[in-house]
Amino acid sequence: MTRTIYVNGCYQSFINALLHVEDRATLFADAVYEVVEVKAGKLVDQEAHLERLERSLNEIRLVTDFSLRTIPFIIRETVRRNRVKNGYVYIQISRGCAPRDFIFPNANETPATLIISARAKNPLKLDEKSKKGIKVITHPDLRWKRPDIKTTGLLASVLARQTAIEQGAEEAWLYNEDKFITEGAASNAWIVNTQDELITHPANQSILKGITREGVIRITSELNLTYKERPFTIEEAKEAKEAFITAATNLVMPVTQIDEKSVNDGKSGPISLKLREIFHEFAQISY
Ligand code: PDD
Repeated sequence: MTRTIYVNGCYQSFINALLHVEDRATLFADAVYEVVEVKAGKLVDQEAHLERLERSLNEIRLVTDFSLRTIPFIIRETVRRNRVKNGYVYIQISRGCAPRDFIFPNANETPATLIISARAKNPLKLDEKSKKGIKVITHPDLRWKRPDIKTTGLLASVLARQTAIEQGAEEAWLYNEDKFITEGAASNAWIVNTQDELITHPANQSILKGITREGVIRITSELNLTYKERPFTIEEAKEAKEAFITAATNLVMPVTQIDEKSVNDGKSGPISLKLREIFHEFAQISY
């Protein structure tokens, strides 16, 4: 089966799909994106992802020439054409294609570029991984000062994640000048303290307000757990009872090692695993 990708109104074959060399996504990373999980052919928390996409567009003042309401239809068709049962949808909108100039091009003459793709991923592999947990390294947060906007300008995150992989870890936990963890390179960071309180960085301009993070916050009351949105230090993380990351691509993934320090004796924590187990029961599922 040939994969297809939606680019500006056409479903193109994946290998032949083209983006103009002067698309502003390429020249300036002048683009925003979303990643939505597909589970059993359905979209998980699609509405929340599309609301965040709209917010990102507003923050970078990108006005699209098409209605965002068309996106769920294109998503569904892309998932169908690619026969994705489990995996992810990727949505990207750039400020269109124009001769290289820092100033915004005239929106009336420059249609935004919309790309939507779908990719299958075996969820069992992630579930297996969650039983063992993952290692994270700590890494300086070198990103720009608006990581709350989900833009494709991700070089600092790419370099941090690559460093993590080269050190036998799966994610980099980024820390600021005061040695507080902000979030992961492509995930939100959480710890559980000895009172079983869940702690994660406040959703201000220093982090992306993760949709999975919001889901976990909703679940805490179901499990009679409390959560606190406050910054935590690298040291506090290393002394935590449990740690985990959240992202659409990982759901809740236990962290069992931070740098050289084991967390929960190197085993996936029970609270992290429970959150993972029930996550989808409380998510919004679209058909
Ligand atoms: N990234 N923080 C950052 C910096 C992220 O890039 C992501 C997700 C998250 C988690 O957000 P959510 O729960 O809404 O997926 C937090 C996606 C998966 C990516 O870039 O591939």
